[in-house]
Amino acid sequence: MKALCWHGKGDIRCDTVPDPKVEHPRDAIIKVTACAICGSDLHLLDGVMPTMESGDVVGHETMGEVVEVGAENTKLKVGDRVVVPFTISCGECFFCKRGFFSGCERSNPNKQMAEKLWGHSPAGLFGYSHLLGGYRGGQAEYLRVPYADVGPIKIPSSLTDEQVLFLSDIFPTGYMAADFCNIQKGDTIAIWGCGPVGQFAIRSAFLLGAERVIAIDTVPERLALARDGGAQTLDFMKEDIYDRIQELTHGRGADACIDAVGTEPETTASLDSVVDRIKVATFMGTDRPHVLRQAIHCCRNFGTVSIVGVYGGLLDKVPMGSAINRGLTFRMAQTPVQHYLPGLLERIEKGEIDPSFVITHRAGLEQGPELYKTFRDKKDGCIKVVMKP
Ligand SMILES: NC(=O)c1ccc[n+]([C@@H]2O[C@H](COP(=O)([O-])OP(=O)(O)OC[C@H]3O[C@@H](n4cnc5c(N)ncnc54)[C@H](O)[C@@H]3O)[C@@H](O)[C@H]2O)c1
Ligand SMILES: [Zn+2]
Ligand SMILES: [Zn+2]
Repeated sequence: MKALCWHGKGDIRCDTVPDPKVEHPRDAIIKVTACAICGSDLHLLDGVMPTMESGDVVGHETMGEVVEVGAENTKLKVGDRVVVPFTISCGECFFCKRGFFSGCERSNPNKQMAEKLWGHSPAGLFGYSHLLGGYRGGQAEYLRVPYADVGPIKIPSSLTDEQVLFLSDIFPTGYMAADFCNIQKGDTIAIWGCGPVGQFAIRSAFLLGAERVIAIDTVPERLALARDGGAQTLDFMKEDIYDRIQELTHGRGADACIDAVGTEPETTASLDSVVDRIKVATFMGTDRPHVLRQAIHCCRNFGTVSIVGVYGGLLDKVPMGSAINRGLTFRMAQTPVQHYLPGLLERIEKGEIDPSFVITHRAGLEQGPELYKTFRDKKDGCIKVVMKP
């Protein structure tokens, strides 16, 4: 089959690889009908995520048709149309039973590696390094889904692929970001990053009752899409974000701040960003937490900082003094997608949101390697790429 494979920093290729097979009786094999490139895949492209190996199949936003099921899988049958969450979860362990699917303690076969780095291992993920399980990803013609009687959600025929594909990751992720903010009537939510995740955070904040959303980015078409979603926008290259949020909130700060950027913010945006960049380049640091620092400063006393942008290691110069003295709450996670799926599918069915609004580029797998770069460089108005193998 054809699949997008990682071959090193800046090097994704469309290769021919062996078809996946059922390896466990709970597995299913999916014929992929649509898959997408995520901002998290850019961390792979940029070589920021350790333990990738040449030839690894990437991709974790995938849906398709079931073409084979293992003998013990009674939930799925051949012909079912499903969306596959990016988190792999057993459904039975301590964490899965509590709804913390992305904390599954059984789905990462390389958990010792993660324990060394992070103390404990999270769930395995599709196409996202050997540290997180070494599973083959879903930017491919076929995908093997482990624990396929837990993760995949069946899709009614009335909904198109483009309406439901983002249930695999970015819709639940943006929704979780807003959910973490415990939004109350009258709240102002500030959101850093108007990439696909930020866009879903904006719309979800309104779905959950926010009075006002302030969205921050610098890319004109991303800011425009944020305004379409009802947000007021700020350009971090032209305005002082702290001063503007102070002004807009009468000096109090935002009720909650969402970091939907993570470890790779724009380097030239500020002095601390430049210093972080140098530290990472010279192996003096692992991450570049400029946005997290700013989000903490801009949050009101006893407000919430909700982090969905991904960080990998040990963050430097995070203003914990500000956070503890002012009573901030921190919430963060790789999304326990399965926990949010039924409710979000229902919202799509009811017409409360049509997630296809973020799509700007449609292509085949062969154009994938080029579109990774278009998406990374924000060229050609690119906000979200969907590939149909
Ligand atoms: N927690 C999860 O489960 C989860 C799931 C999916 C994605 N993510 C993470 O979410 C983040 C965003 O993903 P995406 O797909 O939207 O990616 P993206 O790269 O398309 O979007 C990031 C946006 O941040 C903007 N930005 C850069 N510097 C900024 C700054 N200083 N202030 C404000 N905005 C700035 C960029 O212009 C860009 O539009 C990534 O880190 C990704 O890994 C997390
Ligand atoms: Zn993702
Ligand atoms: Zn589990």
